[in-house]
Amino acid sequence: MEQTVVILKPDCVVRWLIWNVIQRYESLGLRLIASSMENLTEDLLKEHYAHLADKPFFPKIVSYMTSAPVMVQLWEWENAVAAVRKANWATNPAEATPWTVRWDYALTIDNNIVHASENLEDARAEKERFFSWISVVQYT
Ligand code: CMP
Repeated sequence: MEQTVVILKPDCVVRWLIWNVIQRYESLGLRLIASSMENLTEDLLKEHYAHLADKPFFPKIVSYMTSAPVMVQLWEWENAVAAVRKANWATNPAEATPWTVRWDYALTIDNNIVHASENLEDARAEKERFFSWISVVQYT
């Protein structure tokens, strides 16, 4: 069983798209085991996006990700990491396949609705980063 972290970004929250995205993952049979509305801090974003810190668009990411609350979610099921990334599709919505989350809802590469763990190692680190103070449940 895998776990993967999803962040529903500020544009997802303020455009009332939370349930639309949740529905995509639930329809794949994934199980939501933790969730919380959070205001992300610049320090946390610097850690989360450390691999992008030297990119010219990094300040834009920080101002966008702190512009409104996000919903952090932990999803569980077999192949959860790949299943969620496939449901979301490309980072840039212009390259997304039809009927995926980003094709349907994302507007630009900056306002791209959702973040999902890239691989199992990232998923473990992101779980540690975002869910150390949020309760995680278990059910069948
Ligand atoms: P995310 O999956 O959260 O990971 C890094 C984020 O950087 C990405 O989604 C985009 O929203 C954002 N970003 C902004 N500009 C770019 C860019 N030119 N290339 C890649 N990611 C970008």
